[in-house]
Amino acid sequence: MVKIGILTLSDRASSGEYDDLSGVAIRECLDEWISSEVEYVYRVIPDEFELIKLNLIEYTDELECDLVLTTGGTGPAVRDVTPEATEAVCQKMMPGFGEMMRAESLKYVPTAILSRQTAGIRGKSLILNLPGNPKAIRECLEPVFPAIPYCIDLIEGGYIQTDETKMKVFRPKSKKIS
Ligand code: MTE
Repeated sequence: MVKIGILTLSDRASSGEYDDLSGVAIRECLDEWISSEVEYVYRVIPDEFELIKLNLIEYTDELECDLVLTTGGTGPAVRDVTPEATEAVCQKMMPGFGEMMRAESLKYVPTAILSRQTAGIRGKSLILNLPGNPKAIRECLEPVFPAIPYCIDLIEGGYIQTDETKMKVFRPKSKKIS
C-alpha cells in the first residue's frame, strides 16, 4: 500500500472562491499511471507559511505519506511561500526535480521560470512542488515521474508500481530493492 498526499495551496480555492482544479489534475495523472494500491490524503489550505509547514509535517511524520505533491504558491508573489515551507521541513533538498520541471515547462510557457518549485526529503517521504495552474500539473509531473519511484525506494518508502503502457519508470537493475 502506497500513501500519497495532495496539498493544494491557494487562498481562493481554500475559501471556496473557485474549485481546486490542480489538485484534481494531480489525482487524474496518478490514477492513470499508478497500478499499486494507493491511499490518498487531500487538503486545500491557504498560502500561510506556518500552516503549510504544519500540514507537510503531518502528511510526512504522522500520516506517513511516501510522496507529497503540493500545487500552487511557487511563484514570485508576496503570498507564494510553498518552496520556503518545503525547504523548512526537509532534511535534504532534491534540486534536480525543480530544474527539470522548469526546463520542460519552458516548452509550453515562457513564464515557466517564474516558478520556484522544488523538491526535498523529509524522513521517508519525498515532497514535490507543482505550480498552481491546472495545465501545469501534467506538463511538470510527466517528465519527472520516471525518477520518483526509485527515489522513494532509496529513502525506504513504499514501492510504487506503474502501468508501463502509460508511465514507464526507471529503476537501475543493479540496485534492485527487495
Ligand atoms: N509551468 C507550466 N508547466 N505551465 C504553466 O502554465 N505557469 C507559470 C509557472 N510555471 C506555468 C508553469 C507561471 S505563470 C507562474 S507565475 C509560476 O509557475 C508560479 O505559479 P504558482 O504560483 O501558481 O505556483
